[in-house]
Order: sequence, then C-alpha cells, then structure tokens
Amino acid sequence: MTQQSNLAINMHGISKSFGPIKALVDANLQVERGSIHGLVGQNGAGKSTIIKALAGMLKPDAGSIEINGKTVTRLTPANIERLGVHFIHQDRLLVPTATIGEAIFLRNEPGFGIFVNHRKMARRARELLKQYFDLDLPAGTLIQDLTTAQQKIVQITRALAQNASVLVLDEPTAALVKREVVSLFNVLRRLKQDGIAVIFISHYMQEIEDICDTVTVMRNGTDVGVVSPKTTSIDEIVRMMINRDVGEMFPKRTVAVGETVLNVSNLSREGHFDDISFDIKAGEVVGITGLLGSGVKELIHCLFGLAKPDSGAFTIDGTATNFSSPVSAVSRNVALVPEDRRAHGVALSLSVRENISIASLDRYSRNGFVTPGPEKSAVDGFIRELSIKTPHRDALVRTLSGGNQQKVALAKWLSCQSKLYVLDEPTVAVDVGAKIEIYTLLNRLAAEGAAILFMSSDLLELVGICDRVLVVYRGELTHEFQAGDVDSDRLLAAASGARSQTGRAAA
Ligand SMILES: Nc1ncnc2c1ncn2[C@@H]1O[C@H](COP(=O)(O)OP(=O)(O)OP(=O)(O)O)[C@@H](O)[C@H]1O
Ligand SMILES: [Mg+2]
Repeated sequence: MTQQSNLAINMHGISKSFGPIKALVDANLQVERGSIHGLVGQNGAGKSTIIKALAGMLKPDAGSIEINGKTVTRLTPANIERLGVHFIHQDRLLVPTATIGEAIFLRNEPGFGIFVNHRKMARRARELLKQYFDLDLPAGTLIQDLTTAQQKIVQITRALAQNASVLVLDEPTAALVKREVVSLFNVLRRLKQDGIAVIFISHYMQEIEDICDTVTVMRNGTDVGVVSPKTTSIDEIVRMMINRDVGEMFPKRTVAVGETVLNVSNLSREGHFDDISFDIKAGEVVGITGLLGSGVKELIHCLFGLAKPDSGAFTIDGTATNFSSPVSAVSRNVALVPEDRRAHGVALSLSVRENISIASLDRYSRNGFVTPGPEKSAVDGFIRELSIKTPHRDALVRTLSGGNQQKVALAKWLSCQSKLYVLDEPTVAVDVGAKIEIYTLLNRLAAEGAAILFMSSDLLELVGICDRVLVVYRGELTHEFQAGDVDSDRLLAAASGARSQTGRAAA
C-alpha cells in the first residue's frame, strides 16, 4: 500500500490500435516519485505511443491512468498539464518564428501573450539556458536560427521551467553532444532530489545505465519487464528488448583501400572553420566529430551543398567541385544523410516505397516509366536489411515510429549506389539492433568501393566502426586518430581541446 501511494504515474492495461496495427497491447507503466524511470524498447515497440496516451494526445482503447494516486478520466493535454505532467515529445517542433523567450515561456493559448513583459521573459530565458546548459544566446534569437541541438535544449528548458511534478522526455538526447547530455543529467538528478518523477526514453544504453533507477522494457507493444540497471546488466536489458542476443556490436570490415574519392584542401568558411584538409579513399570509413559550435556541422554542410566555403576546394574523383545545392551534390554521385531528417530526409505523406526509391528512380525506369518489379524488390531488400517496422511497403511514412522514419531516410540515400556517402548522425534515434544493421550495411557499401564520411557525436560508435577519426575543435582540424589507436575518452578530450593527445596532430 505504501508503495502504491508513492506512484506518480500508474498506467495499467493500456491498449491502442491503429486500424489493424496493435501499437499497445495491455501495457503497464508505473513510475515512483523522486525517481528517474527509463523506458526502452526497439523502434516501434510502443514507447512514444504510451507517452502520447499519458499526454492525452491519443485516446487508449482500454486501460486506466492514475496520476499521483488519482484516476484521470478527462485525458486531454490541457488537463494533464494542469496535473503537473510535462513532456518533451520526440516529434514536436517549436514554432520557427518564435524567439527563445517566447518558446520557453509562452503557452500556445491565444491571448496569453498580451500581458507578458517580453524583456523580462527574454532575460529569464537567457538565465535559464545559461544556468542549465551553460548556453549563451542573444535574447532575441529566433528558433529557426538555432541548430537542432540548440532547439532541443530550448524545448528541454521550456519543460524544466514549468514546475512539473512529472517530467517525460522522449529521446531528449538524440540531438545532443556529450557535454550537453552531462548538463541535462545534472538537472534531472536535481529534479529527482526534489521528488519529481522523470520518465526518460533513450536508445543509448549507457545513458540508461548512468541515470535510471528503474527501467521498463517494452517489446511489441507491451511491457516485458521492470528492472534496475544496478542489478541487471545492459546486455540483459538489450536481450529483453530484442528477444535475442545482439552479437558483435561493431561488425568487422576488411576492405582493400582504393583511390582517393574525396579530397578536401584548405577549405575555410569565415567564422566557422579554417583551412581544413583531408581525404577519403574508396573503401574507407572516416569518422569526423566535434562539439557543438566546433564548425564540423558547417563543414559537412559545405560538402552537402547546403553552405558555401569562402576559400579552399574539394574534389571528387579528382574533379574540382563546388556544390550550389544538395541537388547538385546528388547529381555528382554524392549521397547525403542530413541530420534533420524530418525537414530534409523523408516525405511524411509518401509511402515507404516512394521515399526509398525517389532518389534513385532512374535505376528502376525504362523509357520514362518505373519498372515496378525491380523497384519493389529493392525496397523490400532495404526493409529487410534495416528491419524497418512497417505493415507493408506502401504504408505512409507518417504512421511509422520515429526510429523507423529515420531508417527510411537512410535507405533512401543508401539505395543510390553512390561513390561518396556523407552521413550526419545516421544512427540517431535507432535502436541497438538497427544500429548494428546500419553498420553492416555501411561495411557492405565500403566493400563495394564507396568512400564514407561519418559524422557522429557518439564517440563509442566512431571508435567502433571507423578506419580513422578526425576531430574538429574551434574550426580547426586538430587531430586524426587511427582505428585501434584511440578510445572514446581520448576522442572526447581531443574534441574538448586537449592538445597533449598522443594521436597524430592533423597536418
Ligand atoms: N498514427 C499511427 N498510425 C498507424 N500506426 C502507428 C501510428 N502511430 C504509431 N503507429 C505504430 O505503432 C507502433 C509503435 O510506435 P511508437 O511510435 O510508439 O514506437 P516507439 O517505441 O516510440 O519507436 P521509436 O524508438 O522508433 O521512436 C509502430 O509500429 C508504429 O508504426
Ligand atoms: Mg518513439
């Protein structure tokens, strides 16, 4: 009984179907006050759906929900917020034209803004961002001018500013780098001390182990276990999630290295990066990383044709190149997987098949008509190879879970048979099993002679799959590490500006 009364959240027997698809089947979620509760499961397991049911965004077909010991009958978003439950949803975006202050403090209800002291609000927003994340942004900055990571930080700060009794974070760290994750975790631990219940969804098992007191494991729409990461190992939790052993996290690759595919020489963009030179040969997987603001993002954007360098040059297969847009990059056999895949990656209102084959339609076309047989089998191949959880190839991407949408975006670019793949955080938001499938696919592409530039904030992953890792610090390429000669701690030290690393200082 005493344990009962300590529950902040008690969801019992929740079921939810979308037509023939059973997203939740008799699922339970119990979260104690003053605890951090992990929610894990493969892409499509039902994590976001159960959170949306709690948020009042979806009406469950069956089940009951208690908040702080009281059964809630009016499950509307407004009512749930009134009860002190606040959310950072996986797929909600901030209003792009709002200022940071507005995004953090204004409700969406009309009329609320009239009496607000905007200057005070802007000042308070700045203070909170500084206090929680050590992030200094000019007061009037618009959401649309922020990076994905900064937008996420604003979203998190908005939730933190609400005086929540329960805080629910659906993959909050997906867009963040290590330093910001550390700040977020410090804040969450403080909230826990204050008796707040935190529900934390993540595909990073290390984070689950670091911060969670208890973990609910979901599989196929239902909870299959509640464990403590202090007594249950991550391997065991992963096994519960995917119902089998994962095997080798980083599959081995033995590929003969060929000719230079990408050569970057003395590339600079004022205020972002300076004098960067490196090359990638056929068959190589080269990692690149840097903290937020290091300039590594902008460098990648130049290779994508999303931004223009001020000086320097790059060549592909020896031919000088200067992409004016992503389209021109694609026409030169460069495949890009942008980080913001909801904006640039997938068309939500098209089917899985259309999304995957759209970038490579000419391969399936004859005399201007798509030949459906080869297209379908190529699409089905990717659905299998990346375990995309979809009822069929013609389902709309909108109806897929967040991680499965990411996989569709990835399949779209990986189906192009390109010479050079530039991947910006390709494994964000995908589950452990699917990560391995992506690494395996990259190994295959490398073996087929592609060159791969792999940008990631997941340092363990870089160490695990890359032949070499480049580190950008404050706009300069400061280090180049060989595989087998680096671990994630040394990478982090290099990315944070430690110069005394034994890794060869990049030329
Ligand atoms: N509106 C919808 N229409 C049809 N199917 C849906 C809809 N929303 C979710 N689903 C399905 O419900 C299942 C659970 O999805 P959910 O988003 O809860 O997964 P998740 O555990 O959050 O996965 P991820 O880790 O990828 O975010 C998936 O199979 C998904 O395709
Ligand atoms: Mg989800």
